[in-house]
Amino acid sequence: MMASFRTLDDLGDIAGKVALVRVDLNLPMKDGSATDVTRVEAVKPTILELTEKGAKVLLLAHYGRPKGQRHSTMSTSFVQGDVEEVLGKEIMFIPEVMGPVVEQSIGILRNGDIGLLDNVRFWPGEEANDSEFAKGIAAHGDFYVNDAFSAAHRAHASTEGLAHHLPAYAGRAMEAELKALDAALGNPETPVAAVVGGAKVSTKLDVLENLVGRVQHLIIGGGMANTFLAARGVDVGKSLCEHDLTATANKIMDTADHAGCTVHLPYDVVVAKEFAANPASLRTCNVHEVGPDEMILDVGPQAVEALGDVLKTCRTLVWNGPLGAFETEPFDAATVALARTAAALTQDGSLTSVAGGGDTVAALAHAGVKDDFTFVSTAGGAFLEWMEGKDLPGVAALTA
Ligand code: 3PG
Repeated sequence: MMASFRTLDDLGDIAGKVALVRVDLNLPMKDGSATDVTRVEAVKPTILELTEKGAKVLLLAHYGRPKGQRHSTMSTSFVQGDVEEVLGKEIMFIPEVMGPVVEQSIGILRNGDIGLLDNVRFWPGEEANDSEFAKGIAAHGDFYVNDAFSAAHRAHASTEGLAHHLPAYAGRAMEAELKALDAALGNPETPVAAVVGGAKVSTKLDVLENLVGRVQHLIIGGGMANTFLAARGVDVGKSLCEHDLTATANKIMDTADHAGCTVHLPYDVVVAKEFAANPASLRTCNVHEVGPDEMILDVGPQAVEALGDVLKTCRTLVWNGPLGAFETEPFDAATVALARTAAALTQDGSLTSVAGGGDTVAALAHAGVKDDFTFVSTAGGAFLEWMEGKDLPGVAALTA
């Protein structure tokens, strides 16, 4: 069972109370505005619920990695306009996180107004999870809401420490995220399939080791599949491959065998002699026919069809990482095809599908199915750590 945590449903009358709300405003920016506001859209319901109930909402967030110093290019004021646009409300920027300026600003805010505190990582106490620092921020609030799952893998003052100094609640986005993740790996309906892709095994070793003991089907794609193929004695030519991890890959496959987890590797692949869009040397072949001057850039169509059949037998899917070099055509084909199959099964009601991680969300958006999965996490690192089976400090503090 999922550990229980308080949600906004547990709040009493909050009119006139000050809510310290941790959100993730670490948005991708270009030319002064955000290129993707998904994270703001995710926290909008929490913010509006609190303001509609008359609370004064103080948004607390980090932006970039300023390492405990004020940095002119990393103020949260840069995202103020984007946040206002998504919320459809004006917000007051407050260039501090504690002290008289914050106190005066709270005095100016009316019930239902929103203030945006500056980048909490400008102060070294944040990343050090300094208790005095957390206390200083907590002094301004009546309660704390954490709606930043994507920062919950950090044991920082604003993501973890504050929960020890104020009554702490999960925001709506955090609540949805935790429920979805629980449905995917905590208490899933079986059989469960996991798709793990991406360039390198080395970045996902802990993920793979955790998953083999929890899922019935492990589908490995992307560059990392080459390392597993090589471990099985396949000559992968010029493909990206971590040959030094052969023993590790074999160990993972052995553990999977013992745990009753079937590891699926591609048996046909799309290869080329150079990595470019639609190269002249493009061809599809059996994995055993890759030439010494060729590289594997995507899973082949027959394997994708077989993987689709595997998903049809499953009740739950968790997906992290693309199956091929999806940013360059036509090496997006396998990711797009399998994502569409998963989306269709989800829409039919036969599959609960949860996906997360930076590249994954981009890949699902590219396949046009981002809204057809049961849940798509806005988290990058936090999603991976959750797939590794780790306790996330920001979540643990809410459930303590
Ligand atoms: C993210 O963008 O994934 C989160 O905001 C965490 O950022 P961080 O990796 O700098 O802690």
